Amino acid sequence: MTHRPKSFRVGLIGCGRISDIYLTTLAKFNQVEVVACASLEPSESRAKAAQHGIPKACTPEELLEDPGIDCVLNLTIPAAHAEVSCKALLAGKHVYSEKPFVTDREDGKTLLDLAKQKGLLIGNAPDTFLGGRWQTVRRLLDDGAIGKPTGVFAHVGTHGTERHHPNPDFYYQPGGGPLLDLGPYYLTAMVFCLGPISKVAGMARRTFDKRQIENGPRNGAWMNVEVDTHSLSLLHFESGVLGQMTMSFDIWDSETPRFEIYGETGTICIPDPDPVHGANDFHGPVWLRTKETSRWSHQPRPTGRDFWEEIPPVHGFNENSRGLGLLDLAAAVEENRAPRASGELAFHVFDAMDAIARSGQSSTFEEIATTCARPSPLPIDFLSPVKDPAHAR
Ligand SMILES: NC(=O)c1ccc[n+]([C@@H]2O[C@H](COP(=O)([O-])OP(=O)(O)OC[C@H]3O[C@@H](n4cnc5c(N)ncnc54)[C@H](O)[C@@H]3O)[C@@H](O)[C@H]2O)c1
Repeated sequence: MTHRPKSFRVGLIGCGRISDIYLTTLAKFNQVEVVACASLEPSESRAKAAQHGIPKACTPEELLEDPGIDCVLNLTIPAAHAEVSCKALLAGKHVYSEKPFVTDREDGKTLLDLAKQKGLLIGNAPDTFLGGRWQTVRRLLDDGAIGKPTGVFAHVGTHGTERHHPNPDFYYQPGGGPLLDLGPYYLTAMVFCLGPISKVAGMARRTFDKRQIENGPRNGAWMNVEVDTHSLSLLHFESGVLGQMTMSFDIWDSETPRFEIYGETGTICIPDPDPVHGANDFHGPVWLRTKETSRWSHQPRPTGRDFWEEIPPVHGFNENSRGLGLLDLAAAVEENRAPRASGELAFHVFDAMDAIARSGQSSTFEEIATTCARPSPLPIDFLSPVKDPAHAR
């Protein structure tokens, strides 16, 4: 087994809502150590440091100047991702950022070029595709369970974030919206399973000009909506697979939520791909139906969902493991390879989303300028045995 350093020292910038699950995951492994945290609000950084036993709370500038930090974990809001990642690279640190990678195409190119020039690695969320659910889907595909893939379908309808996020403004400002917020989970999973996208079309609308915060200290405050909140897209993959995707913040309820992959000899269904419990998370059922068990087959068959065979997970990480992509990046530094949740993958996914949005304006199909390698599956023994209790906080 490859030797890994005792710790890869990480500095966290952005101590908001999503940081807790990252810090909880990372604390389970001795391969990385979070040594400092920073945000725009000093009291928030101090509280986060106290809560998770992080030795230092400081300003983002102090964190970037700290020579003892190998990698910046960028959990700021979307509009700040590019600037914070760029500063981290300029300070000579590897970067792992939340999604979306950037909110502007030129920024994405600049980051990839800068990382290359500096010999640093850049990784990006989502890392949900490294979890047990998506690794199981990939295994089925690689084993030929549905033959050659022909199509993919993803539908996620939510009613936005104002009922659970105390500061949901950024979801309705440039860089937010369901396509950039939810799209990365589904498009990244698609690219992991089916390879890169070559051409897209899209349409979108904005249903409400204002939305009201319905939780937390700002309960009742109104926000302006500056982005489209209901997005439809058509996807053409380099392999010839055809896809369709709906991402919405304007749907109260639906019986449709599904992620499905169609093949010449069967279908893989990932039921209930909702943002909290479903396919954009690490766990959940994977169903398979082949031409032998299909409702079109001549065999006697049960009805309803009994048709579907539930496939047990073939990999670990079947719990919320946000931060797994950063653990893989730490291993990638050691092994001198690209991280699986890479900047190139995230930029290709951003490029596809940018083109979907452009297509809504141009009313034409848009070609995707970038491509990327399909990430390899996570080794089944990655970080296994997973825990060294002596190092878990
Ligand atoms: N909240 C969720 O459920 C969730 C889930 C998955 C992914 N994400 C993603 O995680 C990221 C953060 O989301 P969140 O919900 O934690 O946001 P948040 O608003 O709760 O926290 C954002 C943090 O970033 C800091 N910050 C903002 N701009 C900064 C800047 N220029 N320099 C330094 N620090 C800055 C803020 O001080 C705050 O600590 C977003 O990209 C979001 O899309 C969030």
